[in-house]
Amino acid sequence: MTFDRSVKIAPSILAADFANFGAEIEAVEAQGADWIHVDVMDGHFVPNLTFGPAMCKAIRPHIKTVMDVHLMIAPVDPYIDAFAEAGADVITAHVEAGPHIHRTVQAIRGAGAKAGVALNPATPASAVTHLLDMVDVICVMTVNPGFGGQKFIHSQIEKVRELRAMIGDRPIHIEIDGGVDPSTAPLVRAAGADVLVAGSAAFKGGSVSNPTPYGENIRAIRTAAENA
Ligand code: DX5
Ligand code: ZN
Repeated sequence: MTFDRSVKIAPSILAADFANFGAEIEAVEAQGADWIHVDVMDGHFVPNLTFGPAMCKAIRPHIKTVMDVHLMIAPVDPYIDAFAEAGADVITAHVEAGPHIHRTVQAIRGAGAKAGVALNPATPASAVTHLLDMVDVICVMTVNPGFGGQKFIHSQIEKVRELRAMIGDRPIHIEIDGGVDPSTAPLVRAAGADVLVAGSAAFKGGSVSNPTPYGENIRAIRTAAENA
């Protein structure tokens, strides 16, 4: 993974066909996805359940780009090695998931993955002030985590702007997760984001047997962001 601030679209497989992840990933990558976003939920930190490290390991051979694992679980630390061994390139933990996010970030990097920290909508940018020299990705949740297809929370744009200023020249990606579509993408791009997660807006209208809509969706989000 080389660092740059170009627009990257990261389809979330939460919006894919759960019976067909391998083929869905290959389809969406062929249609222009830059990263593959994998939403891990535990029914405890968030009110929904998805999948764990065994599923991540199973889909890994189908991912040619970047496997971006978003952990919405608490506790996090006991599972970091399993997700790293499953082949995650980026492992993102929530700052709200426990009292020791600094230790969690150290453990993620220690396991050989890029380290991400995610901020829920009510969490201020200042939560990462003392982590800036040790993280690779800051994920701004623009919905409350747990479900796809929710409405973008506009108050988070100001947080993105603050984070962009705090980051300065450091090689840290700002990732946006929740409610990203061609109308919201330019708002967060203009505020400083570079990685745009898109679930429903990326997968809508398409399927493994009809993947062209995936490409149209990805291009629409990318073009809107690049023209911001
Ligand atoms: C929400 C997840 C998101 C979700 C985004 O808890 O972290 O990644 O899949 O879905 P959309 O793009 O539909 O809001
Ligand atoms: Zn996510």
